[in-house]
Amino acid sequence: MDEKINSIPRIRGIIEVPGDKSISHRALILGAMAQGRIPISNLSTGGDCTSSITCLRSLGVQIEKQGQKEFSVEGRGIFGFREPATVLDAGNSGTTMRLLCGLLAGQSFYSVITGDDSLRQRPMRRVIDPLKQMGARISASDGGTTAPITIVGSSLTPIDYSLPVASAQVKSAILIAGLFCNGETTVREKDRSRDHTERMLRHMGANIRVADGTIVVRGGGALTTEGIFVPGDISSAAYFILAATLLRDSCLEIANVGLNPGRVGFVKTLRCMGAEISTNNVRTQNEEPFGTIKVRSSALRATEVTPEMIPAMVDEAPALALAATQAAGKTSIRGARELRFKESDRLKSIATELNRLGGRVTEREDGLEIEGPTELVGTACRTYGDHRLALTLAVAGLIAKGQTVIKDAEVVDISFPGFFQQLGGLSGDRDA
Ligand code: S3P
Repeated sequence: MDEKINSIPRIRGIIEVPGDKSISHRALILGAMAQGRIPISNLSTGGDCTSSITCLRSLGVQIEKQGQKEFSVEGRGIFGFREPATVLDAGNSGTTMRLLCGLLAGQSFYSVITGDDSLRQRPMRRVIDPLKQMGARISASDGGTTAPITIVGSSLTPIDYSLPVASAQVKSAILIAGLFCNGETTVREKDRSRDHTERMLRHMGANIRVADGTIVVRGGGALTTEGIFVPGDISSAAYFILAATLLRDSCLEIANVGLNPGRVGFVKTLRCMGAEISTNNVRTQNEEPFGTIKVRSSALRATEVTPEMIPAMVDEAPALALAATQAAGKTSIRGARELRFKESDRLKSIATELNRLGGRVTEREDGLEIEGPTELVGTACRTYGDHRLALTLAVAGLIAKGQTVIKDAEVVDISFPGFFQQLGGLSGDRDA
C-alpha cells in the first residue's frame, strides 16, 4: 500500500502512543512463565507482539484479549509449556525469536522457530552460542547462523557470559534460560542495553541482582505478579517528537510514555542539538518509569553521536539522521554497525532514502555523516520492509516540499498500527 504524505505547517495536540513493544514482549513471555492469571494493560497490538502471542499460544499458553489493549495471560510456570504441533513463526520479530530461544532451550520437547524473509537473514549465532554453552541443543540454518532454528530442550547449567555486542535480546535470552538453571547465571555488558527484562524479573519476584553492568539471576524461584501496565513506546513517540521539533509553530504533549533511562537517548541527543523537550508527571509502575513529554519547535544544530550513546537510541538512529538533515553543520553518528543487522541494513537504507529526498548523507562502515540543513523535496521512497524506515520517511514527508509517497507503508503496523490516522489528526490548531 502506498501512503501519500504532504507537507504540513505544524502539529499540535495532546496524544498517547501505543504500548511499548519491548515491554509488551516481556509481559507476554515472562507472564507466560509466571504463576496464575496476569492482566496486562496497554499491550502493544503491533505485528511483532502479535507474533509473540501466536507463538506462546502454540506452546499451550492461554492469552485472552479483554479490551482494545487489555489482555490476560494464563501463567504456566517455567516448565508448563507443551510441544508445539507445528513450526513457531516469529514473523518479523527478532525479540520474539531470541527471547523464545531462551525459553525453549530449557523445555523438555522439540521445537522449530522461524520468521519472515527479513528475520531469516538476521544473525542468530549471538544467541545460539551462549545458550549452547549452557547445554542447550540447538541447530540452525546456514551453518548454525540463521533461522529456522531447531531446539531440543535439555537441562541447562549456569554460565558467566560477557556480551560481545550490546544486545538486550541476547542478554534477555540468557537471563530467561538462567531461570531453568540451578545456581547463578551472570551476564556482563560493556555498553548497557535496555534493561526491561531485569526490571520485569525483579517486579515478578525473581532472584536477580544488577550492579555496574553485571546481571546475576538465580534459577528456581517462581515468578508472580498482580498485573503489568505497559507505558507508551518512546520509540514510537520519537516520530512525533521529531515532527514537533522540525515543524515551525508546533507544540505537542505525549502522555504516559515510557522514560526508561536505557531508552531516552534520542530525546537527550535532540536536546543537545537544541530541541526544547521537557518531561513531567514522572511515575513508576512495575519498575518502569513513565510520564509526559512536551515538545516545542526549535532550530537544531549538528552533533556528534559517539559509540557509547548508541544502545540507548539504537532504534531511533534513522529518526536522528533525519533530524540531522535539518540541523546546522555536520552530524556524525559512529559505532552504529549494529544498525546493519536490524529489520533492514539501516545505515544503507536510511542514507539511500534521505539522499533520494535531497539530504546529504554519507554512509560509513559503522555510521553516518549528515550535512545540514538541506531542503527536502518529496518523491517516492522505499521502506525495505522496515517499519522504522517507513515511520522516519513519514516525518520526512511532513517537512519535504510537495508530496512524498511511501511504498509498502503498511509495514508501520509492526510497531505502530494506526500511525497514519493519528498523524492525520494532529495538523489542527488545538493548543497543547
Ligand atoms: C530490543 C532490543 C534491541 C532493539 C529491538 C528491541 C528488545 O535490539 O533494537 O528493536 O526488545 O530487546 P538488540 O537486542 O539487538 O539490541
